[in-house]
Amino acid sequence: MARRKIIAGNWKMNMTPSQAVALVEELKPLVATEDADVVFCVPAIDIVPVVEACKGSNIEVGAENMYFEEKGAYTGEIAPDMLVDAGVKYVILGHSERREYFGETDKDINKKMHKAFEHGLTPIMCCGESLEQRELGVTMDFIRQQVKIGFSGITADQAKEAVIAYEPIWAIGTGKTATTEQAQEVCADIRACIAEIYDEATAAAIRIQYGGSVNPATAPDLFVQADIDGGLVGGASLKADFGKIVNWK
Ligand code: PGA
Repeated sequence: MARRKIIAGNWKMNMTPSQAVALVEELKPLVATEDADVVFCVPAIDIVPVVEACKGSNIEVGAENMYFEEKGAYTGEIAPDMLVDAGVKYVILGHSERREYFGETDKDINKKMHKAFEHGLTPIMCCGESLEQRELGVTMDFIRQQVKIGFSGITADQAKEAVIAYEPIWAIGTGKTATTEQAQEVCADIRACIAEIYDEATAAAIRIQYGGSVNPATAPDLFVQADIDGGLVGGASLKADFGKIVNWK
């Protein structure tokens, strides 16, 4: 069975609540499609108004992060059931910006993966190498570690529902998209890693996105690759370009 494409926007730290609603209204008609899952991952404070604004459309709402505890004295954090109650379906976990600026480790991300599944949220788990790692030839060693620790203790049935976003750090926000060959090669290796951890059926079911400066010009070539099941899109998700990416065919 062919995997359904999933194209997700990652708004990062952009858009006030009122700007967020205006952007949803602008993009709603542009991202209408039956061919792919469309997700807007938005800042926590925008979630409630964005869920409301997306009602009746094909857009699902995602969070950009969450904490791995249920509740309590964790000032500033957001619990999984808060997201679920607000109408969130997806959650980005382990984005490289969270790893780099907020010290998130593979083990933290693994705890968040477990919590996401426990609460019925679909994780979009990010992985990807730095330029230095690519040049040293350790890209796959590094990514395999991120994937293996991230998925530790996650069952095959859960993994089949998960989304992995391969985002080379050197391609994020730099305008430098990985070549389709580079992106396909790593996504295929990630799928092989999932087959090793689980089995072929799980590897065939899990969806793997490419992320890093995806734009309307690069999306079509990326999305036809055998192991690329869509994209995680930062900058271009904040403008009409996102509609072109979603309707890349
Ligand atoms: P970009 O961001 O599309 O702006 O490179 C992608 C991401 O960080 O998810």
